[in-house]
Amino acid sequence: MSPDTQSIVCSPLEHAPLQWARELLANGEAIELLTNPSLGLRFPIRDGIPTFVEAHQITGINGRFRRIYDDWAPFYDLLSRVGLYVLGVSEVKLRRDFVGSLDIKRGDRVLATSVGTGSDLPFLPPDCRFHGLDQSPEMLRICQKKALKLGLSAELFVGQAENLPFVDASFDMVYQMGGINFFGDQAMAIREMVRVARPGSKIVIMDETEKVARRLEHIPGIRDWFRHQRRPIVAPIALIPPGMEQLESRELCRGQAWYLSFRTPH
Ligand SMILES: C[S@@+](CC[C@H](N)C(=O)[O-])C[C@H]1O[C@@H](n2cnc3c(N)ncnc32)[C@H](O)[C@@H]1O
Repeated sequence: MSPDTQSIVCSPLEHAPLQWARELLANGEAIELLTNPSLGLRFPIRDGIPTFVEAHQITGINGRFRRIYDDWAPFYDLLSRVGLYVLGVSEVKLRRDFVGSLDIKRGDRVLATSVGTGSDLPFLPPDCRFHGLDQSPEMLRICQKKALKLGLSAELFVGQAENLPFVDASFDMVYQMGGINFFGDQAMAIREMVRVARPGSKIVIMDETEKVARRLEHIPGIRDWFRHQRRPIVAPIALIPPGMEQLESRELCRGQAWYLSFRTPH
């Protein structure tokens, strides 16, 4: 982890400072971790990815989706490309346009709060400082490989969008694509995006609309994903905290995705 990133990382619940440590286990194995000894907090760094939440700590809808995405991770890129094709959407165009809409400037510190396998990475400006968080370590493993292959530096974190492990006002741009419809607590996830964004930062949230969710519901294997989700899927405008500026809400891909953007006040 770069010193720059270390300066913005904190524990996800207490927002306590963390320090990097290396420990030697009884069996001689060396492990790296982020710790706060006075609070007894320890977050292991596995294959270079700090882990802020373990499988057994994730319950409810989030627990179900962690298992689903961990299992489906090796097939995710292919499935999403084919799925979008069936819906008449070019993934390359969708991601290029989406990333273009984020207004990322040179040197910006950017956070994606459910980065998945990092399918946006090829479209990001190479000179941004990219950070990706996801609750599925298997999705992140693929993201890490993709970043290496592209020669991009991406700082990755296993964590939950509802409890971000970053100090207030850390990022110049915060976004989320394709996860929030099924987050356990959407309101908390949006509040967290706002908390970690600097004053005047752009925040963008996008996911599929009801139209697509109800179509996916008929596909065997995927039907189960929607078991809990009986309420209509709409853009969560009502959950945007008061005082946000330049709020924009629109539909993309012929009504198959909703898109929300706003800025934190200066
Ligand atoms: C449909 S994928 C989208 C991935 C990526 N953003 C993309 O555009 O391909 C949804 C992602 O959200 C992640 N996810 C679901 N609930 C989450 C939560 N509460 N916190 C963080 N990540 C979550 C899943 O693990 C999965 O990687």
